Amino acid sequence: MKRLVLLLTVILAACSDDNVPDVSSEKAAADALQALQGAANAADGKALYAACAACHGAAGEGNSALNSPSLVNQQDWYLERQLNAFRSGVRGSDPKDGYGAQMQAIAKTLPDEAAVKAVVSYISDLKAKPAEKTLDGNVKRGADYYSNLCGACHGPEAEGNDKLQAPALAGVDDWYLLKQFNHFRDGIRGADEADRYGYQMGMMGKTLPDDDVAMDVIAYIQSLAD
Ligand code: HEC
Ligand code: HEC
Repeated sequence: MKRLVLLLTVILAACSDDNVPDVSSEKAAADALQALQGAANAADGKALYAACAACHGAAGEGNSALNSPSLVNQQDWYLERQLNAFRSGVRGSDPKDGYGAQMQAIAKTLPDEAAVKAVVSYISDLKAKPAEKTLDGNVKRGADYYSNLCGACHGPEAEGNDKLQAPALAGVDDWYLLKQFNHFRDGIRGADEADRYGYQMGMMGKTLPDDDVAMDVIAYIQSLAD
């Protein structure tokens, strides 16, 4: 119980400029922690996911109002690695990363590798459905930048490349990709040298000339999803 109170305190304290969790996402976090209480030690993927559903949706479809991305278009190895990055604190520790901190607190309630694998395995069995388009950009210009600067790691169709640990981007929420890209660019994510792959992407975050081009690249990635 003490641990849960501590976690809630962490979640409620996780505030920053444009990354301030609002009341509805704080309530979702509190509900999720309660649900995790029962399932955490059982390594039961379905029971564990019930807590995740409060923010990521019952079908893993995400919820932009809670800044929670869809999870069903990601590879299992990537989901697992991100959950472990949150658990170890290399992701979600920057003071400007309020939503990352929220997710870090939840991930830390997963007690061990078995629980991580169980919940990821449950998510992997959910039906993949590409996230809806929410942003506009110059797709043609985005395509040029993408193939020159991103495709070598993320793949020509943004399908991901496990050998390089670069995740699939096609089908993931465009608003989420843009936010994460900006976080890499600004050193809010991936700045920790212990975060080997995040650090690599952090360097790539500085390669696009401006916000307009970043929007174009994300619009192009979104156009690859179907
Ligand atoms: C209180 C809401 C909330 C709950 C509950 C929650 N998440 Fe999250 N999750 C988030 C938010 C917000 C983010 C985005 C963090 C960011 O912006 O960096 C996130 C991000 C993630 C990511 C990273 C995805 C990526 O592509 O980078 C994974 C994986 C994830 N969550 C899995 C889970 C799992 C598994 C559970 C249940 C054990 C869970 N989440 C419960 C809010 C939540
Ligand atoms: C050198 C290989 C490499 C290149 C080139 C690269 N990336 Fe990445 N990218 C990665 C890796 C590795 C990750 C996973 C980082 C982590 O584990 O946190 C990543 C993660 C991301 C994410 C976060 C996705 C999520 O769901 O959390 C976005 C967005 C992204 N890259 C966009 C881009 C864009 C746009 C470009 C081109 C400007 C690009 N990347 C170029 C390797 C690369």
